[in-house]
Amino acid sequence: MMHLKELAAKEIEFVLSKIDSNLDKYGYDTFPRAASVNNVYEFSKDNNDWTEGFWTGMLWNAYRYTKNPKYKDAAMVQTRLFQERFDKNIKLEHHDLGFLYIYSCVYCYELTGDETALEYAIKAADKLMTRYNEKAGVIQAWGDLSDPNQSGRFIIDCLINIPLLFWASEITGDKKYYDAAYRHAKASQKYIVRPDNSTFHTFHMDVVTGEPRFGTTHQGYSDSSCWARGQAWGVYGFPLAYKHTKDTSFLETAYRITDYFLEHLPKDSVPFWDLIFTDGDKQPRDSSSGAIALCGMLEQLGTADEARKSKYMDYIEKITTSLANNYATKNSDSNGILLHATYALPQNNGIDECNIWGDHYYFEALIKIAMAD
Ligand code: GLY
Repeated sequence: MMHLKELAAKEIEFVLSKIDSNLDKYGYDTFPRAASVNNVYEFSKDNNDWTEGFWTGMLWNAYRYTKNPKYKDAAMVQTRLFQERFDKNIKLEHHDLGFLYIYSCVYCYELTGDETALEYAIKAADKLMTRYNEKAGVIQAWGDLSDPNQSGRFIIDCLINIPLLFWASEITGDKKYYDAAYRHAKASQKYIVRPDNSTFHTFHMDVVTGEPRFGTTHQGYSDSSCWARGQAWGVYGFPLAYKHTKDTSFLETAYRITDYFLEHLPKDSVPFWDLIFTDGDKQPRDSSSGAIALCGMLEQLGTADEARKSKYMDYIEKITTSLANNYATKNSDSNGILLHATYALPQNNGIDECNIWGDHYYFEALIKIAMAD
């Protein structure tokens, strides 16, 4: 762990230097796009995607780690912009309210006690609740609630959005958020995780009968393959579901799908964009999945037995070292942190670029490693 801690501390300095130069160049009130173009993010005042919270979360995490008020000031400006976005209802009709409002308003409240941020985080949780279908017990990911193609469709990524609901229950004492999040996590465990421990990206429920229908992909190679980032969202999402519910079956699921993820890594320990691919395949990587899986394994360390802990420590070291040595943007003109991420290959979007959640979760993992006892 000592070598790893030193590596993490060094990497954190590198990430902070990139954050500093971006703040100097683009100011406090702009956000990077989801993915870079030629490894350079465009920053703008637009706050209308599902991804802006990742940059704000990096600023809050920079403040959490350094206590430098510059990061707090910048993150506060951004958090107010999320409040404004909520008031204007700009592109909020989807399930990614966790990604947007945990890393802005919840983090702000946690770190500063700001009551307005608290109020907006709860409003965001209420909005997320409007997508919960009681009959099917899932939160609809995308589209209009009356759209027959999207109604009852939920996706593995949402495991990182539902902590907003668990948090809202804890803070308000109102169990309705918890109940929805718990049923959603149970449905993810039952239908999205396949018997071989791989996962579907998306799954369709019948909202009239509440019965399961079928799994499909959106960003993966095929309906039956295993999209690397979907699996990584599960590696992180299931231990978070355990953390909030203490349902130990979520840990067993987390262990199973983490094993699958690790068994499908190529030699340099950073996954291809879909786990169907392996060494020798001429396919792009998704370094962001490696970063998310790091966070997931770090979260699982607290509950794993000694054998699993030692296996995870081994992989945490391997993945972190590989990302630091072969993927980080050192000695490059990029304003991002991790190269070779893939947003959505079937949609021809952000292939072999930086993406902002890869940067975010790499930084989060480094801080977790550096701050561990
Ligand atoms: N949640 C969308 C993605 O991982 O691309």
